[in-house]
Amino acid sequence: MFEPVLTSFVREPNSFTLDVALGHGAYEGLRKALTMAPAQVIETVKASGVRGRGGAGFPAGMKWGFVPKDSPKPKYVCCNADESEPGTFKDHVLMERNPHLVLEGCAISCFAIGAKVSYIYIRGEFHHVADVLESAIAEARARGYLGQNIFGSGFDCDIFVHRGAGAYEAGEESALLESLEGKRAQPRLRPPFPAVVGLYGCPTVINNVETLANVPAIITKGPEWFAALGPDKNGGPKLYCISGHVERPGVYEATMRTTVRQLINDYAGGIRKGRTLKAVIPGGSSTPVMLPNAIDCEASYDGIAKAGSMLGSAAMIVMDDTTCMVWAAANLIHFYRHESCGKCTPCREGADWMLKILLKIERGEGEMRDLKLLESVANNITGKTLCPFGDAEVAPVLSTLQHFRHEYEAHIREGRCPLPAEWRCGGGGH
Ligand SMILES: Cc1cc2nc3c(=O)[nH]c(=O)nc-3n(C[C@H](O)[C@H](O)[C@H](O)COP(=O)(O)O)c2cc1C
Ligand code: SF4
Repeated sequence: MFEPVLTSFVREPNSFTLDVALGHGAYEGLRKALTMAPAQVIETVKASGVRGRGGAGFPAGMKWGFVPKDSPKPKYVCCNADESEPGTFKDHVLMERNPHLVLEGCAISCFAIGAKVSYIYIRGEFHHVADVLESAIAEARARGYLGQNIFGSGFDCDIFVHRGAGAYEAGEESALLESLEGKRAQPRLRPPFPAVVGLYGCPTVINNVETLANVPAIITKGPEWFAALGPDKNGGPKLYCISGHVERPGVYEATMRTTVRQLINDYAGGIRKGRTLKAVIPGGSSTPVMLPNAIDCEASYDGIAKAGSMLGSAAMIVMDDTTCMVWAAANLIHFYRHESCGKCTPCREGADWMLKILLKIERGEGEMRDLKLLESVANNITGKTLCPFGDAEVAPVLSTLQHFRHEYEAHIREGRCPLPAEWRCGGGGH
């Protein structure tokens, strides 16, 4: 039976305080890391195979290894706590209920790459969580777990919370760096990558909150333990955010051997009110929808990729049979149109056009040729933008067109949403 690692005591009263965290072994990973050579810490994280939990699944140890060791410039660790992808709410739980785990991960990462400062870039709307982090930092500093000469090792480390600009795009790593520097959160051209030219032009590691929170246990329990928790190349514990039409939405910790079906049925209590599953978005709004016949795959990076979608931020948005898929796509594109940073034309203009066409179809005013136009607009965004936002925003459109074309066509043929009246817009379903 899998014992939670990241959320083992988050339900305890005052779990966010240093005393409670110390009772559960907090900062033991940092203590051990400081007895190792920085290169050895990087090798340990590499050997664990831990993959980035922010969306792309890039191996964290490899990323740390890209930071040039001989650079005379200061180095930085940025913890990406922007968490703005629709359906994603896991980092929030870690920061609010187990902040010392996140701080410990940041400090170990700093030690490994030779940084003395880490910034936690937190979503602007997370006022309360930012306060929890600030208090945790003050507590850790006052008791010598952060600051000067930690554990008498000679290692200095400070962590600062930077409240974000309230934009989804600010979570894209290079836009995050711009925002941290006080500029508009718009992406940079790459290469050079942040590991070489990052914050203030200095080598910078950017990792997701959950990625960094995995590091202390990798150090204390060893990389083999971590890797063996999950399937090959998909090791470690994983947080899943399950939302939508389930009985018990929430954040659940499991291993990546768990299937999507088990997460929905066993963890989240199954589809609400005994209804049937229509589709699931497995990894946040930017990942393609999956059909019920595909959900027996492992909820891992590779398992979901084989099933035709992506694990992304592990945000499963579950939709039952009352959901109009044209409305669902329009709803998501409404978000993307609003959040496009506007720097490149295909993304900025394309989102607007996709939304116009989707709303026209949803209103029952669509024509069959609109489907071709919709596909063409989406295909002219894919791979033609400065950052992955462009590819993200076409996923809801292209995947619903692929799997639910009949529903689009029925809207056009019937001049209205084909679902029963009580499930249509303004009704019970959407
Ligand atoms: C539009 C957009 C928004 C993103 N938002 C976040 C976010 O809120 N949190 C996050 O960790 N990564 C986010 N990412 C991914 C980051 O660019 C980056 O890959 C990640 O922070 C790297 O950390 P990881 O390797 O630990 O996953 C976003 C990417 C894009 C394109
Ligand atoms: S793809 Fe969209 S979000 Fe990314 S840089 Fe271009 S306009 Fe901005």
